[in-house]
Amino acid sequence: MALSDCVLVKLPHLIDHRGGLAFVEGGRHVDFSIKRIYYLYQIPQGETRGGHAHKALRQLIIAISGSFAIILDDGREQKKTIHLSDPSVGLYVCPMIWRDLALFSEDAVCLVLASEHYDEADYYRNYAEFRRAVDRI
Ligand code: TYD
Repeated sequence: MALSDCVLVKLPHLIDHRGGLAFVEGGRHVDFSIKRIYYLYQIPQGETRGGHAHKALRQLIIAISGSFAIILDDGREQKKTIHLSDPSVGLYVCPMIWRDLALFSEDAVCLVLASEHYDEADYYRNYAEFRRAVDRI
């Protein structure tokens, strides 16, 4: 559960004259079974998303179209900004990492593969509360 565990994952992809095809298999290209996918799209220019951390959820985030930035924060003064723009690259985000998403291009679509079904109880949406939880680890 450290920033260093949040890594870029190069996904298998095939490109020929017909276009590109990339794929992700649960348990192979991510270390979890994929229970849910969701995607952010038609994001107004200048808008930000995220603004939370998860207690147990693991995710792979892919810029399936366009580009955006993800700011990761471990709650211990360490931050890292990752720019995604390649649909064959995913960012693995482990539990207990605060994330903000910003700088969405007009055509951005953010695909998220998640290890669990949606559960509001798994969220920290308050940064101070997240910091206190990190201190208890
Ligand atoms: P949220 O996780 O805050 O989105 P973002 O990370 O883009 O800021 O979710 C926004 C709303 O959507 C919130 O009311 C919960 C709901 N939601 C679901 O019902 N199911 C889901 O799988 C997700 C990700 C969100």
